[in-house]
Amino acid sequence: MPALGFGTLIPDAAETITATRDALEAGFRHFDCAERYGNEREVGRALREGLATVGIAREDIFVTTKLWNSNHRTERVEPAFEASLDRLGLKYLDLYLIHTPFAFQPGDNQDPHDKDGNVLYDRDVTLLDTWKAMEALVDHGKCRAIGLSDITLETVKPIYESARIKPAVVQVESHPYLPETELLEFCKEKGIVFLAFAPLGHGMKPGLLEDPVISAIAARAGKTPAQVLLAWAMQRGTAVLTTPKSAARAKENFDISPLSEDALDEINRIQTRQRLNPVVNTGVPGFIPQAKSTAQGK
Ligand SMILES: NC(=O)c1ccc[n+]([C@@H]2O[C@H](COP(=O)([O-])OP(=O)(O)OC[C@H]3O[C@@H](n4cnc5c(N)ncnc54)[C@H](OP(=O)(O)O)[C@@H]3O)[C@@H](O)[C@H]2O)c1
Repeated sequence: MPALGFGTLIPDAAETITATRDALEAGFRHFDCAERYGNEREVGRALREGLATVGIAREDIFVTTKLWNSNHRTERVEPAFEASLDRLGLKYLDLYLIHTPFAFQPGDNQDPHDKDGNVLYDRDVTLLDTWKAMEALVDHGKCRAIGLSDITLETVKPIYESARIKPAVVQVESHPYLPETELLEFCKEKGIVFLAFAPLGHGMKPGLLEDPVISAIAARAGKTPAQVLLAWAMQRGTAVLTTPKSAARAKENFDISPLSEDALDEINRIQTRQRLNPVVNTGVPGFIPQAKSTAQGK
């Protein structure tokens, strides 16, 4: 799996197509999709057109998509997988992830709620049940690897222990304000790829792209803050997903070179702690700016 990936969480259909093609042309070969993003058709179209333009084959790219929360029932997993494959216009997937460990009420409504607005969870299927249905997809040969997303160390451990086919990848929010060091250590020990999303803090301002430590390192090294953040993520041994939306930013975010040990140490000493996307706690996605806190257990 190429360590530097392009994420397709882009609300606008036309922008999905141009950004995906720009990413392919800039050199990205790893594409992260999801049923939930509602744009698999556009991503598939952009990839087909982009492969022809760049002159490379399907086998030269790595494509991931994700099973949404309302499809956790075992009998819904394969149909959801096939529907994603069909929308993407692909014959196989390199990686299929369970988007979050939270099962919602099964059905076509992606956001089932009661009349008071509370999420309707499905208590009749366990994460292990869903995982076994994911394993069957690998057995059937249309999916090369499976993994988990938006998951904590406590939840990933029992799945890892019980799994016949071990998770290949764990995708979670991670950046210097949320280093997830314990989960990263677990993944390294077990040979699981730790794939960080929101490495630029989702581009939120104020935020990581304006952090004084990051800006100072960028100025010293002749790089941009985005390039510093992506290099830090890769040098600590994580794979990373970023979402540049223009050709210039795609080139910038693909042009990553190593930072000095001193620069890495400075970033590791940043005290701010901030989770931007509470999906890991509820299964409900969405970036929300959080009040900054410093370390010491907050
Ligand atoms: N598993 C999950 O639940 C989950 C959740 C979130 C994301 N993801 C995946 O992870 C991918 C990446 O997450 P993300 O979108 O938060 O990534 P990100 O790269 O941290 O943030 C993307 C935002 O940063 C800005 N940006 C990108 N390149 C920049 C640059 N060079 N300089 C300044 N700003 C720049 C863009 O803002 P503008 O809009 O201003 O261009 C863009 O919207 C998603 O597309 C998705 O595939 C997964």
